[in-house]
Amino acid sequence: MTMNWHPALWRSRPAAQQPAYADAGALAAVEAALAQAPPIVSLDDVDALRRELAEAAAGRALLLQGGDCAETFAEPDIAGLAGLFDQLAGMLPLPAVRLARIAGQFAKPRTVEGRVWRGEIVNGRDALEPDPERMRQAYAHAATTAGRLPKRLYASHEALLLPYEQALVRQWDDGRWWSGSGHMLWIGDRTRQLDGAHVAFAAGLANPVGVKLGAIGADELRRLADLIDPERMPGRLTLIVRIGPKIDAALPPLIRALRQEGRQPLWVSDPLHGNTSRGGPRKVRRLADAVWEAEAFAAIARSEGVPAGGLHLEMTPEDVAEVSGGLEGEGWTSACDPRLNPRQAEAVVAAFAAALGRRDAA
Ligand code: PEP
Ligand code: CO
Repeated sequence: MTMNWHPALWRSRPAAQQPAYADAGALAAVEAALAQAPPIVSLDDVDALRRELAEAAAGRALLLQGGDCAETFAEPDIAGLAGLFDQLAGMLPLPAVRLARIAGQFAKPRTVEGRVWRGEIVNGRDALEPDPERMRQAYAHAATTAGRLPKRLYASHEALLLPYEQALVRQWDDGRWWSGSGHMLWIGDRTRQLDGAHVAFAAGLANPVGVKLGAIGADELRRLADLIDPERMPGRLTLIVRIGPKIDAALPPLIRALRQEGRQPLWVSDPLHGNTSRGGPRKVRRLADAVWEAEAFAAIARSEGVPAGGLHLEMTPEDVAEVSGGLEGEGWTSACDPRLNPRQAEAVVAAFAAALGRRDAA
């Protein structure tokens, strides 16, 4: 966290995956309104989550992070999701840190189903034109949702849409800047460029920050960690590994690179985003691939001497048939990528938990 950090610092850097708003005046009006709005989460809770994540990084707890790929403006089934978290937490050998993808997971860094749909916060499903008013709606939905979350279920989302994120940064009396848009924010695999706007933005926040890791080299990761967590604050940095089939070769050098520097980030596995293929207009994910990557991650972490700190899952309490290859329910309701239904999520968590307990793995 540099002394000169400011919420608008990102504007001097190249910002990937941002919509082009046609009406600059309308955009500025929304930004100004959100800058005056109450934060969606409190700094006390942000700090509490960071302490819990520090426990996970130290190997005394496990992170369970999950929820929709993309939230919509429909009312979320919070009770259902909280129940799913409880169910999954009960399968783990250590206390779980429960972190939902919710109350702000409205922006997507890609074209979804062939349309330039960047998520509900940017444009309507049938409207290509980015509309800044949607940020106001997203804020209202997020605030309502966050207010209904049960105690100890924290909120997280990808900090993708930077005008929205900047508008929700606040400064505490002690001088710390923090994001009121969610307890934990993460940077996606497509927006984690070292000299890019998203890294510059996240670097100054007091919140826990996650980074998705697909194809990345050890040197790049070292520099990323230095930029985002220069003070090496326990619980600050969560590395969300979503490498896919190449994890066996690609992950060990990354873990070693940070270990050699004495860093103790929280390492978790997202076993879905690296195992996604195109199958016509929709994405295809197979349960066995997710199970395999979660197990491989646990085995590699063990043999590299760091805690396998948990899972990041796209999942839903609905009994859907979005992920294929076993335990499917019926139907597809995801606005974006295929999500695990409850039985499939249990299968992944069970495999991960079993792999944690295998002393001679890898
Ligand atoms: C996501 O989590 O929905 C996502 C887009 O992930 P990634 O950045 O890892 O591709
Ligand atoms: Co996704």
